[in-house]
Amino acid sequence: MDVLFELREAAKRGRDPTCSDGTLAILMETAARIGATNFLEIGAGEGLTSAALVLRFGGRAVAIENDPERAERARENFLRLGILEAVTLICEDAAAVLPRLEGTYDLIFLDGAKVQYRRYFPDCRRLLRRGGALVADDVFFLGKDMNAVPKKRKMLAEHLGEFRELLAGDPSFETKFYECGDGVAVGIKR
Ligand SMILES: C[S@@+](CC[C@H](N)C(=O)[O-])C[C@H]1O[C@@H](n2cnc3c(N)ncnc32)[C@H](O)[C@@H]1O
Repeated sequence: MDVLFELREAAKRGRDPTCSDGTLAILMETAARIGATNFLEIGAGEGLTSAALVLRFGGRAVAIENDPERAERARENFLRLGILEAVTLICEDAAAVLPRLEGTYDLIFLDGAKVQYRRYFPDCRRLLRRGGALVADDVFFLGKDMNAVPKKRKMLAEHLGEFRELLAGDPSFETKFYECGDGVAVGIKR
């Protein structure tokens, strides 16, 4: 866990950092509550959140990351942390991977391109077991007030707003939003 802590601190200084301590705490609390051991991470970066979940709860993870350099660092991190066998790392666009995934997951961590959350939602719903959790990071990135969003970011803000509405309005989910960092949504599939 010391190695993971050091890797997280280094990654937080990068361009696309690992999730915040607050988001990780929500993930850990949610995973513990639902007894999760089978994880899917969309936008895995250097693999540190999948690693944290597998190291804490055991089980397996599928980690999707489309940037080859980051995926290679994720592979090195999984190797260094002794969990390479427990993680299936897929270096590809999540939009191409998700439709062909089968089976179900206990917890899906959605942390890839924010503009794609809405598009990924039907596959996330399909791939979650009943009682499983969809945890989406940065759902209030750009805030809640559309009038305050700069013109060139409006499309992204609208996509995120539509994702929040889709999740909150879906009767197959019981959803809570957390004011943590740029916002975290946790939807438990009924
Ligand atoms: C915020 S970072 C992920 C941090 C990681 N979830 C963590 O907690 O350590 C977002 C990642 O999503 C990846 N990403 C962006 N678009 C993607 C796509 N279409 N398919 C897969 N990964 C994508 C980026 O390359 C980046 O590494």
